[in-house]
Amino acid sequence: MIIYNKESGIITLSTKNTTYQMQVDKHKYLMHLYYGKKAAGDFGQLITGADRGFSGNPFDAGDERVYSLDQFPLEFPFRGSADFRTPAFVMQNPDGSKGCDLRFKEINISDKKYTLRGLPTSYANDGERISTVDISLADDVSGIEVHLLYGVFEDRDVITRAVRVCNKGKGEMKLLKVSSASFDMPFGDYDFITFHGRHAMERQFQRVPVEHGKYEIGSLRGASSHQYNPFVMLAEREAGEYAGDCIGIHFVYSGNFLAEAEKSQYGSTRVIMGLPDDMFSWSLKSGESFDAPEVLMAYSDKGFSELSNIFHEFIRENIERGYWKHRRRPVLINNWEATYFNFDKEKLISIAREASKFGVEMLVLDDGWFGKRESDTSGLGDWKVNTKKLGGTLGELSKEINDLGMKFGLWFEPEMISEDSDLFRAHPDWVIRIPDRDYSRSRFQLVLDFSRKEVVDYIFNEMTEVLDNANIAYIKWDMNRSLTDIYSKALSAECQGEMMHRFMLGTYDLLERLCTRYPEMLIEGCAGGGGRFDTGMLAYESQIWCSDNTDAIDRCLIQYGTSFGYPTITMGAHVSAVPNEQTGRVTPFETRGAVAMPGTFGYELDPNKLSEEDKRQIQEQIDTFIEDYEVSHFGRYYRLSDPFEKSEISAWMSVAKDKKKAIFTAVALSAHANDIPHFVKMRGLDPEACYTVKELQKEFTGASLMYGGLPLPYGREYRSVMYHLSCE
Ligand code: GLA
Repeated sequence: MIIYNKESGIITLSTKNTTYQMQVDKHKYLMHLYYGKKAAGDFGQLITGADRGFSGNPFDAGDERVYSLDQFPLEFPFRGSADFRTPAFVMQNPDGSKGCDLRFKEINISDKKYTLRGLPTSYANDGERISTVDISLADDVSGIEVHLLYGVFEDRDVITRAVRVCNKGKGEMKLLKVSSASFDMPFGDYDFITFHGRHAMERQFQRVPVEHGKYEIGSLRGASSHQYNPFVMLAEREAGEYAGDCIGIHFVYSGNFLAEAEKSQYGSTRVIMGLPDDMFSWSLKSGESFDAPEVLMAYSDKGFSELSNIFHEFIRENIERGYWKHRRRPVLINNWEATYFNFDKEKLISIAREASKFGVEMLVLDDGWFGKRESDTSGLGDWKVNTKKLGGTLGELSKEINDLGMKFGLWFEPEMISEDSDLFRAHPDWVIRIPDRDYSRSRFQLVLDFSRKEVVDYIFNEMTEVLDNANIAYIKWDMNRSLTDIYSKALSAECQGEMMHRFMLGTYDLLERLCTRYPEMLIEGCAGGGGRFDTGMLAYESQIWCSDNTDAIDRCLIQYGTSFGYPTITMGAHVSAVPNEQTGRVTPFETRGAVAMPGTFGYELDPNKLSEEDKRQIQEQIDTFIEDYEVSHFGRYYRLSDPFEKSEISAWMSVAKDKKKAIFTAVALSAHANDIPHFVKMRGLDPEACYTVKELQKEFTGASLMYGGLPLPYGREYRSVMYHLSCE
């Protein structure tokens, strides 16, 4: 619900459990008053002013020296206002000055969710309660209007935000920073929680106090990146997994981003999420408008677990779309770790045939099926089937796979090009590089300039040529290098700052076209594993390969971090061979299955090389995965241990919405001789109910499992247990 009180200027957005409040003040500046637990009333008392030295006053405040934007909690701070904290918005006027004065102009409340041009956005399902508001702020001198767009998903407890900038003036403006969301908490001690990482070790939890100064994370790599994820949390110092106030912020975008947390001189905390100001500028001619990507925000007074579950539900219901949204995803086998580039038709069929015996439902043919692609040094961009290597057409191969009762999936890396490719020889000017300069290589490949429509059109046609001529049910969309040497031949010198955002718009355009043309195609995202794991991609890709690291023990950490922002249904996870390709670690087959099962599930190995016992387990694992799917992928998810803090175990569970079923998993990350016993307290059960734990053949009350806890079997390194709980 959204209420605007014209008299007081108070604008209140409310969801089932939260309230978000702003105020248009007497000088028509937009203040941020409150975001937190649902609460009636107004919060105007939180704005206090004092005569502050070195904090200037707006011209029309006259001699009112206590009125300074430098000390007020603001909703959308801009450069040029004598507020010296980090701005959310910076623009350059035709005379070169950087400044504006954004004052409230209009407010429009509606029940229609906004969309953004060329960008992914959340959407309301039929019958869902949604209200939106467009608050416009105008800079009278330049004619720039900034529209702050809010979507209030009442029952989901999520508030979305986005920004549209319109040039209603006569001159050409340059946008230098357009953040999508910003707010100031007037007081309090907060921690900033972010998820850092690296290739093959993504989304590691990090919590730092917001102290005086500024803490920022982001990406300038052209992808949201392995290094920092565009999901962050602001938590009160006391907040933890199951208690305390916290706010989560998702950026619905897959390219460069910047997330900032700043504590001001007067103790307020500002949080900003959006496009970065580095490597960005946008020329806005008279009559034009610019849409900045969407942000999702949620608040919980019950700690991180509640926040995660709010986002899990929202991503499943209001971000994911299309055919696979509510469908169980097929159990797949991917040939990458089994063969790398070294395969032929017989090899692929032998993998598929063996896997099909145990119930694997799809073969995914990874890198190496096209052009001259015998290694990672050549061939990208030449999406022509290598019929010699495949012993025939892709149509024939997919038919043979289908005849085994399996679906067929295929790997692409659409945005990339090898120097050693026919495409590069034909169009050397299609790559991203700075004229007359040497460029950086990465995995021997370069990036196509997707800011150019003709380049996107070409790749679309090449891909559809392949997809139309074989029975392909799934695409793995990869992206294996960062963007460097940023320059587009198609843009003028003044517009080069638009390149990286335009690249992203081109990528989304290609995804949108493919989703429209092949509505039942399952797309799995990938960027060297989890280098582009974000809610932007999840609007097109139903699942994302979580990491190139398939080691079950490392995966416990990676999936733990990922689960803060993202639901299990999106996490690509496979059982691979041991010793593990990335770590050399040997873990039991059972543990590898238990860790992959809460994800999208599949295998990344040659089943012909497995022991009879492991093969038997495949069958069992698939049966369990299918049986558990509803609970583990649509239930509530609980992290039961922090593997970063307590390095001995990793434990989690999923509980059905009606609490009648639950699945509990624990993995021994390490073990010691004469070890201390490890106990875990379960979560989310009905305390009154009596649960049978199938594997223990025992009954417990929910209360005894949640408040008392359960001992884990006496330790052996890398062992796991999976318990199925049910009650009548
Ligand atoms: C990336 C992916 C892998 C695999 C290779 C193929 O590294 O993350 O899963 O597809 O590319 O080159």
